[in-house]
This record gives sequence, C-alpha cells and structure tokens, in this order.
Amino acid sequence: MAKDSIYDFLRSLMLPLAEIDKALPKQGVIVDLGCGEGVIAKYLARRKTRKVIGVDNSQKRLQNSTQTNLTFVLGDIRSYRLKALDAIVISDVLHHLSYKDQKKLLVKIASNLKKGGIFVIKEIDAGEFIRSRLSRIWDFAFYPKDKIYYQHSNNLGNFLRSLGFNLKIARASRVFPGSTTLYICQKL
Ligand SMILES: C[S@@+](CC[C@H](N)C(=O)[O-])C[C@H]1O[C@@H](n2cnc3c(N)ncnc32)[C@H](O)[C@@H]1O
Repeated sequence: MAKDSIYDFLRSLMLPLAEIDKALPKQGVIVDLGCGEGVIAKYLARRKTRKVIGVDNSQKRLQNSTQTNLTFVLGDIRSYRLKALDAIVISDVLHHLSYKDQKKLLVKIASNLKKGGIFVIKEIDAGEFIRSRLSRIWDFAFYPKDKIYYQHSNNLGNFLRSLGFNLKIARASRVFPGSTTLYICQKL
C-alpha cells in the first residue's frame, strides 16, 4: 500500500466520515476548507451529483485529482473567496487559526452560504477535559510548531447561533482517543 493510501486509511478511521456525508446535501457545490490530504473531500465526491472543492495552504498535503467533480486548490482559507455555496465543511482546522481569524472566517462563511445551506464543523471541544488533552498530544505530534486555539463547544455554539445558524452538536467517533465534536449547522 502506498504511503498516501496508508495515511488516508488511518485518517478515515479517526474521522466521522459517514456522519459528515449524511449531514451534507446530496448535490450542489461543497467546499472543504483546510482539506489537507483530502480524505473528506474524496469521500464526499464519491457522489457524482456533488461538485467538491478542497482548499489548503500546504502544497505538500494537497493531492492531484483525476475526478471531474473533485478539485483541489492551493490557498489560504482566510482570504479564499466563497460565494453562494450549498455547503461547507471544515474539519480540525479552526484550532489552527487565531481566535480572531476563526471569528472572521465564521462570519465570512455565514454570509456566503445559501439560505438553507449546511455547514459542518469537526472540532476539538476544550470542554471535554480528557479528550481535548489527548487531542493536544496529537496536534503536538503532527504540528509541533503550530500555536493551537481550542474553543469550548458552548462558546462556539453560541457564536454560530448568533450568526444565524440552526445548530446540532454531536459527539462522533467515541472510539478515537481525542475530542471529535461535530457541529451540524443550517443557515436560516
Ligand atoms: C489537521 S489538518 C486537517 C485536514 C483535513 N481537514 C482532515 O480533517 O483530514 C489541518 C489542515 O489545515 C490546513 N490549514 C491550516 N491553516 C490554513 C489556512 N490558513 N489556509 C488553508 N489551510 C490551512 C493545514 O495545512 C492542514 O492541512
């Protein structure tokens, strides 16, 4: 098995892929912000009625796509232009941005999703005492130089509601030793 496929396989065990897929529309344009190696984007693009765009600022992580409904773009999600989207996913990325940049990005997302559009966030919940500390070990192992900014799910949830999202918070992938909180948001 190639190194990329091994990574994809291991990452897919950590991610609540089926839950993310189920929460998202079956067709339309979906942007995966901070897609990394594209494990989520590739899973979502298995449904050909979707057009999936993965954006990441790491050339090293970005992969080539041979699928017509899947594109990977090199870019910084803080300045990447979003417009009239059906759905957006952001998984394990927010905590790599400063609290100020997280807020700015969430405001931008809220104003660029179509009415009724779906926004899925997978994040570490600082309120999960043990799991968030386990996640911090993973982040240190994979991103030793990054400053990390976890949020409490109550604070993030309240902020999302203030931006006009209807919100469901779920704790997925209980087997994984880390915090895997899923925010399924619908633009009102
Ligand atoms: C933990 S990985 C998550 C990858 C993928 N979303 C997943 O769940 O498998 C975090 C990703 O965010 C990307 N990232 C961090 N800050 C970014 C930024 N400002 N613009 C674009 N990508 C960013 C990193 O390059 C990295 O690929």
